[in-house]
Amino acid sequence: MLKVLVVAGARPNFIKIAPIYHELIRRGHTARLVHTGQHYDASLSHTFFADLKLPKPAHALEVGSGSHAEQTARVMERFDPVLLAEDPDWVVVVGDVNSTLAAALVTAKRRSESGVRIAHVEAGLRSGDWAMPEEVNRVLTDRLSDLLLTHSPESAGHLAREGIESERAVFVGNVMMDSLFAVNDQARDDQPGPWGTLPPRGYGVVTLHRPSNVDTPALLTALVAGLGSHAEHLPLVWPIHPRTRKSMERFGIAIPTGITMAEPQGYRAMVKLVGGAAVVITDSGGLQEETTAIGIPCVTVRESTERPVTVEVGTNRLVPWPPTSHGLRSAVLEAIEQGPTGGSRESGLPEGWDGRAAFRIVDALERAGKR
Ligand code: UD1
Repeated sequence: MLKVLVVAGARPNFIKIAPIYHELIRRGHTARLVHTGQHYDASLSHTFFADLKLPKPAHALEVGSGSHAEQTARVMERFDPVLLAEDPDWVVVVGDVNSTLAAALVTAKRRSESGVRIAHVEAGLRSGDWAMPEEVNRVLTDRLSDLLLTHSPESAGHLAREGIESERAVFVGNVMMDSLFAVNDQARDDQPGPWGTLPPRGYGVVTLHRPSNVDTPALLTALVAGLGSHAEHLPLVWPIHPRTRKSMERFGIAIPTGITMAEPQGYRAMVKLVGGAAVVITDSGGLQEETTAIGIPCVTVRESTERPVTVEVGTNRLVPWPPTSHGLRSAVLEAIEQGPTGGSRESGLPEGWDGRAAFRIVDALERAGKR
């Protein structure tokens, strides 16, 4: 049996670790959760643990917010003694947040003395945009990892170009789908959120949190103006990330009529909200995929995407760059006009989006074995 430390720090991580944790336990392995505390507000953290039936973490590092350097350094300092005390066969890290890279780096430095190995789930994604902190985290985490559990068929090419041996990579598919399929049906019967009952396909959903979109007054003002022009015809619900709320307050940006602001939502509530929407406007990676899986048009407010398959399937489109109020407006109109599209779970979803990625991840760990 394997002993595995499963590390998570931020909202999108929790969705990815849940199916892996449950599958490890189901097969009788020892799985211990480490929560770095990068996200700590109940709405960004505890709610996800409850929705995804995750137990209280064995280790809470409570690193909190800070600069990239502070946050990464704090995770490193606090994760190292946990790693020494737990002495696992594997450290599993997921995604591309600062906690992912920090935990991988600590483990890599201890590898030769203890034999511990690193598995990176969602390996091989690339946006090609080095200005994104997540791209730095992805590339370096992949470089440090022993087992690269890749998310998409094109990942192999990305890794090969970076000189990573193909033997280290195993294609496992998209583990977010495991969580999505597990809650999608249950969430449908849940009570609506604080915005009340909304007409199916009669509203849009907004999320924006990338520093490149929300930390600059001119750009955030333009984006909010673009959203406001839709909200006159299509009500928008915007569960707002704390970073974005702070920016709105700091820049004195008013909320246009027709936009309902809400606290960040838990996983089930968000799945339900998105499932009924006419369109989703976002800069999140996860939502690009979730909308693809359930066939909701999505407009992504980013210059590039590390998830190009979402554009190929046809649900997702990028706003014309650099984003303007007008560009956002026309992209959203186009998306709404096109309507729900894309694959279905049975037929058209991308390879490896079948709700069984966690099985393949644990299979790969078992094949790679103990130290
Ligand atoms: C992080 C990830 C990003 C991911 C996002 C999901 C990195 C580099 N970024 O971005 O890839 O898409 O999580 O949400 O790792 N804050 C709170 N409460 C919290 C956490 C944060 O109020 O529980 C506020 C703080 O002001 C903090 C800011 O949000 O400074 C940003 O948090 P941080 O963890 O640094 O990055 P995110 O923008 O959340």
